[in-house]
Amino acid sequence: MPATFATTPNDALPLWPVWKGDALPARSGDWPGSAGFGAKPGEICLLPGANGGLRGALIGLGDRQAAGRERFALARATALPKGVWQVMELPDGLDPAEAALALLLGQYRFTRYKGSAYDGPQFLCPAGVDAARIEAIAAGEFLTRDLINTPAGDMGPAQLEASARELATDIGAAIQVTTGDALLDGNFPMIHAVGRAAEQEPRLIDIRLGDNGPMLTIVGKGVCFDTGGLDIKPPSSMALMKKDMGGAGTALGLLKMLAQSGAAQGYRIRVLIPAVENSIAGNAFRPGDVLTSRKGMTVEINNTDAEGRLVLADALALAAEEKPELLISLATLTGAARVALGPDVPPFYCDDDETALALAEGAATARDPLWRMPFWDPYEAMIEPSIADLDNAPSGGMAGSITAALFLRRFAEGAGRYVHLDIYGWQPSAAPGRPKGGVAQGARAILAALPVMLP
Ligand code: BES
Ligand code: MN
Ligand code: ZN
Repeated sequence: MPATFATTPNDALPLWPVWKGDALPARSGDWPGSAGFGAKPGEICLLPGANGGLRGALIGLGDRQAAGRERFALARATALPKGVWQVMELPDGLDPAEAALALLLGQYRFTRYKGSAYDGPQFLCPAGVDAARIEAIAAGEFLTRDLINTPAGDMGPAQLEASARELATDIGAAIQVTTGDALLDGNFPMIHAVGRAAEQEPRLIDIRLGDNGPMLTIVGKGVCFDTGGLDIKPPSSMALMKKDMGGAGTALGLLKMLAQSGAAQGYRIRVLIPAVENSIAGNAFRPGDVLTSRKGMTVEINNTDAEGRLVLADALALAAEEKPELLISLATLTGAARVALGPDVPPFYCDDDETALALAEGAATARDPLWRMPFWDPYEAMIEPSIADLDNAPSGGMAGSITAALFLRRFAEGAGRYVHLDIYGWQPSAAPGRPKGGVAQGARAILAALPVMLP
C-alpha cells in the first residue's frame, strides 16, 4: 500500500485545521457557525463555494490544552471527499511533521482478504516538512501492520523470511538465514527447541545494512504463532497470538524507516529475527526439560509458554558476540507488561541513564509512548532457583515483565548498551490513524532517539 503525498499542487482544495475555541479562518464566513462546527477532534466542516461547489474544509483539532492523541485528529481528514487537499496555515501547537504523518497514517487499510484499497482523498505534504522522511516512516509503519495483521496461516516462519528477503532486496541489505537442523550446527539450540515441533522449520534471519560507523543491532521476537506449547494457552489467551511476531514486524518496519529515510547512513545496522512457531507435536520441548543455550548457560523449562525469551536469548548471544555499541530487543514478551501499563504504553529497560533519557525523549517527541521500568537486580534471584543456571518461568509470576527482561539481559552481555522493549504490537480498538489491529510500537521513538543514543 502506498504511503505517499500527492504532488499536484495546482488545484488542491484548502484544509484548515482549527483548535477548539480559536478564531476560524476569515474566509470560512458564517457557515461553520450555522452548521454547528465545534472543532472537536477530527470533526470536518465542508465549506460551500459560490455556485454550490466545494471550496475547502475545516478540520477540528479539539482542545489545545489536551496533549497527545489530539494531533492525530488530522488522520480523520481521510474522511474528506476525494480529491487533492492542501493543509493551510498550521496553527501553533500543531507540529507540522506530526500533522503530515497523521495524514498518511489515516490511509492505512489491511486489504489482503477483504475490502478494497484506500480510495479516499490525497494530501500535499504540509509546507516545511521533509516529505521523504514522513513517507519513510509511514511506509515502515504500514509494513509492520501488514506483517502483524496477516494470520499465522499465511505468515509462518517461511513467509516472515520471504518478507525479510523482500525488504532486504528493496533497501540493498545483505541477508542470511539459518534454517532447521542447521540451527543445531550453528549453535542456536534454543531457537531450534522452541520451533522444532512446527510444520514450518524454525530459522534465524540475519540482515545487515551499511559497513561503517557505530553499530546498532536490533533483535525482534518472531514467534509467528504462540500456542503456548505443551503448556497450552486457553482459547482467550491464544486468540491474538498471530501477533507474537510483533517484535520482528516492528524491527523490519524500523529497518525500512531507517533505510528509506536515509537515517541509516553512517551506521552499521544488523537485524536478527528468530522466526519460529511455538507449536505442539510429539517432538515438542517439554516442561522440565533443560536446554543448553548458545551461550552455554543451561535453562530449565518451567513453562513452554515462556518461549520468547528462549529464542531471543540465542539471538541476543549471537548479537553480543560482535559487541555492537547499541543492542535493542523488541518483543511481545509478557502479559505482565500489559497488566502493568496497558496496551498503549510499552515498558522499556536500559541500565544506561543517558540512553534511557534519550529514548524517553524520542518517545515523547515522536508521540510513540514508552515508559522506563527497571532491570531490578535483586530480582535476579527469581530466575535462578532451578536445577539449571536459569529458570525460564519463575513460579509466582511476580514482576513478570522485569524477570523476563533480566533473563534477556544475561544474554546481551558484551554489547555496549542494551535496551529491551516489551511491546504489545496491537491496537485493541480503533483510534484516529490506528485501526484495530497490528501497530508498530517503539519504532518511531527509536528513529527519533537514534542520533542521540548513537551519535
Ligand atoms: N507471547 C506471550 C506474551 C503475551 C501475551 C504478549 C499476551 C502479549 C499479550 C508470551 O510468550 C507468554 O506467553 N508469556 C507468558 C510468560 C509466562 C508463562 C512466564 C505470560 O506473559 O503469561
Ligand atoms: Mn508464550
Ligand atoms: Zn510468546
